[in-house]
Amino acid sequence: MEKAKSCWTDIIRTRRNRQSSWVRELVAETCITSQDLILPIFICEGTGIKEPIENMPDVYVMSTDAVLEHVQLAYDCGIQAVALFPNVESDKRSHLASEAYNKNNLVCRTIRLIQKKVPNIGVIGDIALDAYTTHGHDGIVDEQQKDVINDVTVEALVKQALVFAEAGCQFMGLSDMMDGRVKNIRRGLDACGFTNVGLISYAVKYASSFYGPFRSATGSANYLKTKDKKTYQMDPRNVREAHREIKIDVEEGADILLIKPGMLYLDIIKHAREHYDLPIFAYQVSGEYAMLKQASIKGFLDWERAIMESLICLKRAGSTAILSYAALDVAKNILK
Ligand code: PBG
Repeated sequence: MEKAKSCWTDIIRTRRNRQSSWVRELVAETCITSQDLILPIFICEGTGIKEPIENMPDVYVMSTDAVLEHVQLAYDCGIQAVALFPNVESDKRSHLASEAYNKNNLVCRTIRLIQKKVPNIGVIGDIALDAYTTHGHDGIVDEQQKDVINDVTVEALVKQALVFAEAGCQFMGLSDMMDGRVKNIRRGLDACGFTNVGLISYAVKYASSFYGPFRSATGSANYLKTKDKKTYQMDPRNVREAHREIKIDVEEGADILLIKPGMLYLDIIKHAREHYDLPIFAYQVSGEYAMLKQASIKGFLDWERAIMESLICLKRAGSTAILSYAALDVAKNILK
């Protein structure tokens, strides 16, 4: 028995397949192209604005003119879709978030402009009320209970989905985590003839501390008094609950599943990949980006290698596509 063992270690040498670049390329099991990447973009009112976000170096909040240039560049680099997140001025925020379903709101105008200027890129609108509320929560808050009211919020989300669809949005990301929103938005869209509009369900969205830089970028951090969203976003300790969330959203008619955050939740991505047939998008969130970027700026990490490794790992775990703030940099400067 022992003899056989040593004999095998003499014959089998796993390093043979790693000895030169060409063989490593040929045996590689995972690859990333710019077609796998989705670029999230922060948008604001005005013209000529390209404001750096302090805790997300190389990411900006942009007015629509700058956004259009950015989107064109992304498309030219092979990126297939952008996801829009608005930074809404305080006078447009309200308790009931009615600006979310104003058909001329910033997102709707930007969707229309992008579709005109860069018609072949996908534009993903974000369905949630956090950008429009005076408390920064993703839904409408009951003053007495101090919590988001589910079904009233879903009604507002349906209206938001309809104005996005009217503006020409072909896929929307449902990031609010309300119960029943997939089915109600699906019904609402279908009833108005938008049967082709697709739903990317943020089926599994954890109540994560890694959304901090995003909340600063959209301005919501200033409004959010309770710093967490634990009554609607998921508990990071749970995986069976993720399974349940996905199952429900699939039954309700989601077209694509999204898992968020990404890097810290590879087990959830893998679980979803093994149990469901829908495409899976992973969201490398703001805190994950900031962590890699800041460490690279400090010289603790090599940016190009670290960001590529993080994206490869998200893909290897089972994601079909990845939302990353580094998407344009990767497509333009690293993948070329
Ligand atoms: C809000 C929303 C959030 C993100 C995307 N949509 C923040 C939150 O839930 O508080 C986070 C994305 C990121 O951190 O990059 N609906």
